[in-house]
Amino acid sequence: MTAIAIDGPTGAGKSTIARRAAERLGFIYVDTGALYRTIGLSMLRRGIDLSDAAAVAAGLDGLKVSLRFQDGEQRVLLGDEDVSGEIRTAEVSMAASKVSAVPAVREFLFQLQRDMAKSNNVIMDGRDIGTVVLPNADVKIFLTASPEIRARRRFEEMIAKGMQTTYEEVLSDLEQRDYNDTHRAIAPLKPAPEAVTIDTSGDTFDQAVERVLAVIRGS
Ligand code: DC
Repeated sequence: MTAIAIDGPTGAGKSTIARRAAERLGFIYVDTGALYRTIGLSMLRRGIDLSDAAAVAAGLDGLKVSLRFQDGEQRVLLGDEDVSGEIRTAEVSMAASKVSAVPAVREFLFQLQRDMAKSNNVIMDGRDIGTVVLPNADVKIFLTASPEIRARRRFEEMIAKGMQTTYEEVLSDLEQRDYNDTHRAIAPLKPAPEAVTIDTSGDTFDQAVERVLAVIRGS
């Protein structure tokens, strides 16, 4: 089995780039952020205080999160409910960032992520894939871009989806999540020592995909 780890900050284009690269290679694309989002959603629905780590940890009891692949597309399930669409709101993004700082949440999702790479050739994206989840990954990539470019791309994506927001709101949200993700005590976002960093600030989508594929093929 071959495992490619792609980590990087919010809005660096990880998911769209990794999805396309996986298609080209015939690999499964695993979006681990969707797992943290699903836990965030479940906690929000139950009105659990996300800044209370003990309450969040207790809220994991009996929770069932799983992944399914349908026509090559990842679907994420909360119990039997497909929540793949519902987890894509700004509110759930922030909730995911908060619950992901709780060690019990990371432990809860650890094995599920590992198992995906045991039985499939994968490109897995997240924040700690190369550092924690798949430390023996065959290739590790740290995908990044400037905060302004990431916010601009995310803003345009949200407007295209008909969401109501402003560029300033998206940028401040993204900076807040960057801060949370890089400053948490457990599995903070940082490049693995052997990761190849790709800054896509000046790239089109197709150029970024080609750069990622070149690193994978060259390894
Ligand atoms: O990639 P994303 O925006 O869907 O991730 C949502 C949040 O989940 C993000 O703010 C940090 C967290 N996350 C994480 O801590 N570890 C991962 N492997 C993936 C996501």
